[in-house]
Amino acid sequence: MSSARLPPESLDAIEAEAWALIEAGGRSFRAPFHAATLGTISEDGPNLRTVILRGADGPTRRIWCHTDIRSPKIAELRTDPRIGWTLYDEPSRLQFRAWGVAVIHHGDEVAQQRWQATVLNSRRIYHAVAAPSSISAVATGGLPPELDDARWTQEFSERGAANFVALETVITRLEALYLHHAGHRRASFRYDANGTRTAADWLIP
Ligand SMILES: Cc1cc2nc3c(=O)[nH]c(=O)nc-3n(C[C@H](O)[C@H](O)[C@H](O)COP(=O)(O)O)c2cc1C
Repeated sequence: MSSARLPPESLDAIEAEAWALIEAGGRSFRAPFHAATLGTISEDGPNLRTVILRGADGPTRRIWCHTDIRSPKIAELRTDPRIGWTLYDEPSRLQFRAWGVAVIHHGDEVAQQRWQATVLNSRRIYHAVAAPSSISAVATGGLPPELDDARWTQEFSERGAANFVALETVITRLEALYLHHAGHRRASFRYDANGTRTAADWLIP
């Protein structure tokens, strides 16, 4: 029997389910949609990469991830703050796409709060000596050799805060696609800058 999710019957119910599932993906590594594809606009054209969802808030239409201030995606977003998201869960055959505008939190109160909530193990990558995506003469994880287990304490990990970015996307458009043998369903929602819904439509899948 197919495990695909039955689409809810109304646009309101689809929207509520979409945000609830995206929020759950941002809360737990066990939830579907915990890993997602984040798209920016680069000199080479569309630039996609996998990131971990670090939070979402349906009522205010926000999605969060964390990254390094030195990573190319930040430079791209400073040139063009538009973001595209794709989230897919194979067992339920459910895809969400979202579009929005980036707010880069670096060194502000939001970044500090999220850094404090970041567990020790997840802080490690922010200690890379060179910028993420920069070329290296040798195969390396990029972390400094002195960052061995003896030195790796909560106190030492605080140095990584300087590179930490909480990347907020203010969502202006959300789409849900349910693939189901009884009939696919596709729905689209648009939001203004305050998060107020301005459109809800069925689309031909
Ligand atoms: C499963 C998985 C999760 C990842 N999570 C993140 C993340 O949360 N933040 C991040 O910046 N990069 C993450 N990455 C690495 C990115 O995909 C990407 O390689 C890196 O951010 C450099 O991207 P950029 O050069 O476009 O800035 C993840 C990669 C994988 C495979």
